Amino acid sequence: WRSSLPQLDSADSRSDEESGGEIDWDNLGFGLTPTDYMYVMRCSLEDGVFSRGELSRYGNIELSPSSGVINYGQTRVMAACVRTYVLDDQGLFEGLKAYRAANQQGSYMLFRPEENARRMQHGAERMCMPSPSVEQFVHAVKQTVLANRRWVVPPQGKGALYIRPLLIGSGPILGLAPAPEYTFLIYAAPVGTYFKEGLAPINLVVEDSIHRAMPGGTGGVKTITNYAPVLKAQMDAKSRGFTDVLYLDAVHKTYLEEASSCNLFIVKDGVVATPATVGTILPGITRKSVIELSRDRGYQAKQVEERLVSIDDLVGADEVFCTGTAVVIAPVSSVTYHGQRYEFRTGHDTLSQALHTTLTSIQMGLAEDKKGWTVAI
Ligand code: COI
Repeated sequence: WRSSLPQLDSADSRSDEESGGEIDWDNLGFGLTPTDYMYVMRCSLEDGVFSRGELSRYGNIELSPSSGVINYGQTRVMAACVRTYVLDDQGLFEGLKAYRAANQQGSYMLFRPEENARRMQHGAERMCMPSPSVEQFVHAVKQTVLANRRWVVPPQGKGALYIRPLLIGSGPILGLAPAPEYTFLIYAAPVGTYFKEGLAPINLVVEDSIHRAMPGGTGGVKTITNYAPVLKAQMDAKSRGFTDVLYLDAVHKTYLEEASSCNLFIVKDGVVATPATVGTILPGITRKSVIELSRDRGYQAKQVEERLVSIDDLVGADEVFCTGTAVVIAPVSSVTYHGQRYEFRTGHDTLSQALHTTLTSIQMGLAEDKKGWTVAI
């Protein structure tokens, strides 16, 4: 499949060192730096199967004004306001990263891309959308990385090439029903740390009037409409000096669910706990990996719990940290709830730091991947 890659234009064929000179790789943050190519593949509802996709220059895409994603993509906001659990939004996304392999000159590494493919399939099923096969998804990701290889952060950099697969109902539809055509698209951008704090600990605030998810809703799948509804809470928290928001369950307003863009872990009395994926929690791939890595560090299954985590669990907690593809593992130094600030241990000798080192070393090829999680390109 390497032979099907487009010939890079002369501007794109500069050596990695030349392109590396253009960007301040160490201070990228999570802004959008457009890259050269995107991957596009389409499918009709009638066929239900994606046909061969292809790379094209990165750029704007054409969409019908009546495309499913534009017309019904934000229905969830209204639905949440009137407290119904009827949802319709035909847009899913994924996020994964490619690193320049530290141990193999000239190759690139992906982390568990099949997990992203399967999560997209699961979300597509919930949203009545066809989805690419795991093989199609991984193939498309590889093509996108290779076509944009000059943007993969050099090994000494602190970031990665972030890959954003999208699945949208692109066909026109007026009545509320699945769109007649679907587009799977992948673009990529070099990124650094997600939070402006960089690798420094973050400060969260618990929100109890805006909810990210509800029972029977779509919190457990990566639909685009899980994100716009929390922007108000997030902006408000930022204006008050917090890094991000922790959302509570919509029924009891007692259980911690997740932050706007990442999952949550707490460490207390030698037990690692994270909210169970009961339909309102995004089943994060970093979350899943961190559970496994914690067990490898000698934590037994009974010391790594997936369960309801209440606000009360914050009292006396030793550590709190967040996990996600974009976020990686972010230590939390404080959580504020109703004006009460709970503080936690961060820095050296913490589980979160050890997990961060282990995880990123595997992802970058600095440590042996005994689990077969990485995929070399
Ligand atoms: C990711 O971590 O990849 C996500 O999709 C979160 C997003 C809000 C940046």
